[in-house]
Amino acid sequence: MKMNKEEIVEKILELKQKRNAVILAHNYQLGEIQDIADYIGDSLGLSQKAAQVEAKVIVFCGVHFMAETAAILAPDKTVLIPDKNAGCPMAEMITAEEMREWKKNYPGRKVVCYVNTTAEVKAECDICCTSSNASRVVESLEEEEILFAPDKNLASFISRTSKKRIIPWDGYCYVHNNIHANHITLKKNLHPDAEVWVHPECRPEVIDLADKVFSTGQMIKEARITEKNEIIIGTEAGIIYRLQKENPSKKFYSAKDLALCSNMKKINLKKVLRSLEQMVHRVEVPAEIREKALGSIQRMINI
Ligand code: 13P
Ligand code: SF4
Repeated sequence: MKMNKEEIVEKILELKQKRNAVILAHNYQLGEIQDIADYIGDSLGLSQKAAQVEAKVIVFCGVHFMAETAAILAPDKTVLIPDKNAGCPMAEMITAEEMREWKKNYPGRKVVCYVNTTAEVKAECDICCTSSNASRVVESLEEEEILFAPDKNLASFISRTSKKRIIPWDGYCYVHNNIHANHITLKKNLHPDAEVWVHPECRPEVIDLADKVFSTGQMIKEARITEKNEIIIGTEAGIIYRLQKENPSKKFYSAKDLALCSNMKKINLKKVLRSLEQMVHRVEVPAEIREKALGSIQRMINI
């Protein structure tokens, strides 16, 4: 039977209660998903939420590494991802084997891994970080030389304020790396009074043009308190939906209209419904990997 959007939403809400489930959604999710989510946030906020919620089931609307982090932090809960192919290409740019080989070339160095990595890679690292705490995590280490994987742009952003030598892995996010300086200048010409906020996964020349560099969660917070009425946003365009919805008197322009993460957009209402109906797709992390990866994540949370 074909259901309309309202019927699908109604069914999701009904099943959510029946299963004792919560829906967590990343800031880049489709508007229809943000509208039914119990909590929307950035990578750090979502993983913390996963560890705190009392529900038995977490329907994670985001990409695979985020659901995996939730599964690591909440092993007693059932974590479901509505589309098992919603991966993060950047997270797949380094494997655990590559990480082990890389570390051999730099004996004694501490390894920081961005949360956008697989659980196997996290298990090989000393400490994890997200876009909202990367500099703080690096500065918390005593060592002067740090290996950082996989995002070379985030590594370069940290280097701007750190005296440490950051040795980057050659990874990047295809969405942020495709936002170029000319996209920013073009939008700046169209909206000369607008402030420019960009994500630290952007290229260095884009960071140079920004007024502020924020994680997605920091953008959401700052949008509520800024006195600026117009802001150009240099990150995945899905965040504009939430920014605009929460701040109707302000104007948010995407630095690049087609800055879309196709992986994030794989999740839709129908798939969330199927996820709750069939309890698919379960995200599980083998115990020994989980234990080591949890160490990296926990060391970050403790800072
Ligand atoms: P945030 O932690 O800032 O939400 O970033 C996650 C991400 O995947 C950015 O592309
Ligand atoms: Fe990964 Fe980039 Fe998509 Fe974020 S926007 S999930 S880093 S591919």
